[in-house]
Amino acid sequence: MTETADREYQAVVLAAGKGTRMRSALPKVLHRVCGLTLLERSLRALNRPEITRVVVVAGFESALVIEECERLKATLPQEIVVVIQSEQRGTGHAVSTALPALKETPSRTIIIPGDVPLLDTDTIDSILADDGEELFPDLLVVSCELPDPSGFGRVVRDDGGNFHRIVEDKDCSPEELEIAEINAAIYCAELSLLREMLPKLTPANNQGELYFTDVAEHALKASRRVSVSCVEEWTRVTGANSRTELSQLEQLRREEINLSWLEQGVSFEDVASVYIDEDVTLGRDVFLGAGTRLQGKSALSDGVVIEGQSMIRNSSIGNGVTVKLSCYLDSAEVGDGCKIGPFAHLRPGTKLHRDVHIGNFVETKQSELFTGVKANHLSYLGDATIGERTNIGAGTITCNYDGYKKHRTTIKAGVFVGSNTSIVAPVTLEEGAVTGAGSVITKDVPGDSLAIERSEQRHLAGWAKKRREQNSLKK
Ligand code: UD1
Ligand code: CA
Repeated sequence: MTETADREYQAVVLAAGKGTRMRSALPKVLHRVCGLTLLERSLRALNRPEITRVVVVAGFESALVIEECERLKATLPQEIVVVIQSEQRGTGHAVSTALPALKETPSRTIIIPGDVPLLDTDTIDSILADDGEELFPDLLVVSCELPDPSGFGRVVRDDGGNFHRIVEDKDCSPEELEIAEINAAIYCAELSLLREMLPKLTPANNQGELYFTDVAEHALKASRRVSVSCVEEWTRVTGANSRTELSQLEQLRREEINLSWLEQGVSFEDVASVYIDEDVTLGRDVFLGAGTRLQGKSALSDGVVIEGQSMIRNSSIGNGVTVKLSCYLDSAEVGDGCKIGPFAHLRPGTKLHRDVHIGNFVETKQSELFTGVKANHLSYLGDATIGERTNIGAGTITCNYDGYKKHRTTIKAGVFVGSNTSIVAPVTLEEGAVTGAGSVITKDVPGDSLAIERSEQRHLAGWAKKRREQNSLKK
């Protein structure tokens, strides 16, 4: 690190390709691994103090790539610039497209492909350290030995073991196909070398493309210094060209994430069946049942129990909360000690204070439930504010939508809402009010009073018996 710490870099991320083998309407760099797009993963890997500027080369569906870059600018410290490669004529052409957007200084440039999902800051650090080791060669090529090198460009060395050239899989001779050392398509280069060598590229290869890899050969011919940095962990630098490769790499990352949470004090019922996104945070003694999915920026505090088969997205869950089987939480805030489910649906804008109980088949949306509220069975609570200790009877519905607009329901503290009450918003139930079961509440209810809205029950003596007799005569 000491050699490189004082050396600044610009970076180029190649992200213009369609990713034909993905067979997708989305550019490859916008596919996700553990919740993050490949582009975000690449830019996060480049988030090092030495790297001050990043030029992203977009092409296929560039508007989507630009949109993602705009979002990322707000989360990353580096300057991010996008250039458009309107025709994808190969990796060499892509770097040429980036040249005008590179500044004169820093003159050292790191180039990475945007389709390497598990590239991380540690690997970038080791590459930058190797780059500085030999007093900065004109070109540093990053390589790696792969268990299965097929599909990758191979690093060909001479008899003395010195770098000779890179040859693409499609252009390999049978002997070259046997080489296990592949080109990771990550390079560090002097800007002057790029300016001099890129114009020399020709599409004289099996794909008719301008290969960046040929820059190495041209550099050697011009007696420039080319060295190789061989990365040990092959998973870190392996690119994904198809959904199969992407899913294999995602599987590896998923296992790493789960393993790291195990080490940090989280228990799993069945570790292989739990999916945790990159930015999720978990407290100590969290228990995750089989089939748990934790997505986005979800945060679970200490002692949370997720029984399993639940989806929790962008939600925060307080200490000691239990989420029983099969719940769906999206952008919800759940306070300490709450009990949720089984089969509950907490939609965006749900805020539960402490010790709230949400039972089976209860749906909440844009609603704030204060401490100790209980809604244990079969309810819809939308656009509602519900005060402390209020009990929501089974089957209660807030009728928040009149076909044109949404309206709010306010239920104050200590209210007892009888079973199967329909509450037609906008309406307020004052503190301590009670509603009779089956009532349709359309007017504000004063505090401590009973609101009952239903016709009186009548009894017709003998009616049932008579009906039975009439029906048996007919047969
Ligand atoms: C490339 C390397 C290969 C290496 C492999 C490692 C070349 C010629 N080959 O092959 O030696 O083993 O990566 O993963 O460089 N891109 C553009 N514009 C283009 C073409 C590609 O931006 O015109 C981008 C793609 O979006 C992708 C990256 O460059 O992110 C690599 O391109 P890809 O087509 O995947 O190259 P590989 O065949 O994998
Ligand atoms: Ca690739």
